[in-house]
Amino acid sequence: MQLVASLGRLIAPASVLDLGCGLGYSTLWLASIVQPGGRVIGIDDDPVHISEATSIARELGYADRVEYRCGRVTDVLGTIDQPVDMIHDDAWFAATPAHLDAMVGLIRPGGLLTMVNWFLLVDAITGSPRNDWESFAGEDWAAATTRYAQELAARSDLHVTWLESPPIAFATRR
Ligand SMILES: C[S@@+](CC[C@H](N)C(=O)[O-])C[C@H]1O[C@@H](n2cnc3c(N)ncnc32)[C@H](O)[C@@H]1O
Repeated sequence: MQLVASLGRLIAPASVLDLGCGLGYSTLWLASIVQPGGRVIGIDDDPVHISEATSIARELGYADRVEYRCGRVTDVLGTIDQPVDMIHDDAWFAATPAHLDAMVGLIRPGGLLTMVNWFLLVDAITGSPRNDWESFAGEDWAAATTRYAQELAARSDLHVTWLESPPIAFATRR
């Protein structure tokens, strides 16, 4: 998240979405780079995560900049009608997420998309998985991850860069 925040700072974002915010670790990193008067919306479909994340943000003094919404990413994105400066996506694993088009469509031109979980692509390429990804994402995990990467690379509305270490990807919206 330190690298994600550094990348985000370059565009001085005022509006950020954190997809798959969990307990809000990533959300609070993003809140630390949002411009004065700006906002980060964390989205997760686990109500316990959302409840705890809300308490943590309040306790740590981030309530003015952070809002949490509970639901599937695809559904919650459908309720957001203004383009945003930055989206951080941690709500996918191996396969192309159902929210891909909605997510990209919400990023303003020149805006930033950051994505974690690309250790899966590193492991698919090296053939040496660092964990039993099959139990998390099925036996097709390596092919599914590779397909998702190829799909992102082929998009004409994104310019995507992958890093091996740390294994994240970031993209600017064309
Ligand atoms: C790895 S955890 C999140 C970690 C968090 N970003 C952090 O930095 O601590 C992934 C989260 O994504 C949520 N998630 C996964 N797919 C989702 C989806 N399609 N819609 C909403 N939440 C999702 C899970 O409930 C889980 O809390």
